[in-house]
Amino acid sequence: MSAPNKSYDPVEVEALKPERIDAARDDALAAFAAAESLDALREAKIAHTGDRSPLALANREIGALPPHAKADAGRRVGQARGAVGKALAARQAELEAERDERVLVEEAVDVTLPYGRRPAGARHPLTTLSERVEDIFVAMGYEVAEGPEAEADWFNFDALNIGPDHPTRTTHDTFFIADGGDPGREGRTPGDEAGLVLRTHTSPVQIRTMLTRRPPLYVICPGRVYRTDELDATHTPVFNQVELLAVDEGLTMADLKGTLDHMVQELFGSGLTTRLRPNYFPFTEPSAEMDMVCFRCRGASVGDPDHPCRTCSSEGWIELGGCGVVNPRVLVACGIDPDRYSGFAFGFGLERLLMFRHNIVDMRDMIEGDVRFTRPFGMEI
Ligand code: DAH
Repeated sequence: MSAPNKSYDPVEVEALKPERIDAARDDALAAFAAAESLDALREAKIAHTGDRSPLALANREIGALPPHAKADAGRRVGQARGAVGKALAARQAELEAERDERVLVEEAVDVTLPYGRRPAGARHPLTTLSERVEDIFVAMGYEVAEGPEAEADWFNFDALNIGPDHPTRTTHDTFFIADGGDPGREGRTPGDEAGLVLRTHTSPVQIRTMLTRRPPLYVICPGRVYRTDELDATHTPVFNQVELLAVDEGLTMADLKGTLDHMVQELFGSGLTTRLRPNYFPFTEPSAEMDMVCFRCRGASVGDPDHPCRTCSSEGWIELGGCGVVNPRVLVACGIDPDRYSGFAFGFGLERLLMFRHNIVDMRDMIEGDVRFTRPFGMEI
């Protein structure tokens, strides 16, 4: 057995040579100084202080040294590691301070900049209400149909059985755009579109639908209409109507009634009913005026002077619009066989509906475009 190597000199271990340790320390200090970012410093830290760094490897060699050599080597390696640790911490602090300064500059908020002075707009309640009505009918399988606002007088009147001398023609105070010549001419057809008006109702969309498509037809037609009324609290020359048309085999007034009941309940709550009062429209036969039970007093204000209802003027009913069974003459004008098909139609004004639904007393509020009016309606869906 050989004696322990008493003459073992730590200087002879390659990793522990003073110049190697100094070089490892200097490399580490240079790498830290060269690191321009915290990420780069992290890499340098791993390379120079990690388990596989030269100084860590040197430190591991100390354990194998004879006792008398350990102290000297330990001191040398310890001093080098201490210097490296200090340099690392100093560079780390420096880079962090730089980063903090940069963040302060880059992410600064200039509180003296002017704010967005344009107030945010709001959806108009008429748009919201129209979409709501459309949704009710789309859910029942109806489609949304549209037509032009500048409409041929044949579509607006003639095809709807409103002849040139028909009294109804004069009640629709019409904006004329182009004169179509003699409207009394026998056998006028949709081709005679020279006479142009701003449509006075949405009913011409019924005609356009029936001329271009075959039954079964279930359409809802919302849109803008025009009449030569002066603007005041209860009239406006431009307003919105919603038209309903169903044409199918075997449709009756009972289907119309059920459909209207459903619409009213979807809009105002369950349990509300409608009633039909006889009326006259050239394009429906029979025709009716549709009323709904007052959604506020539910009829309780009738004959009760102590509890008047502003919404229905204590009538118990609110008038909603006109309706009826499509006149066979209209079906014929659109090339639909009235012996096979029948239909029902309904038309009402959206502004009026919005007014009594929300207690709006002046129509002008609805068209002035003031967001202070529209905003409180929020985003009703
Ligand atoms: N178009 C009519 C008007 O503006 C309203 C109307 C009444 C539409 C009866 C209809 C209906 O579809 O069947 O006065």
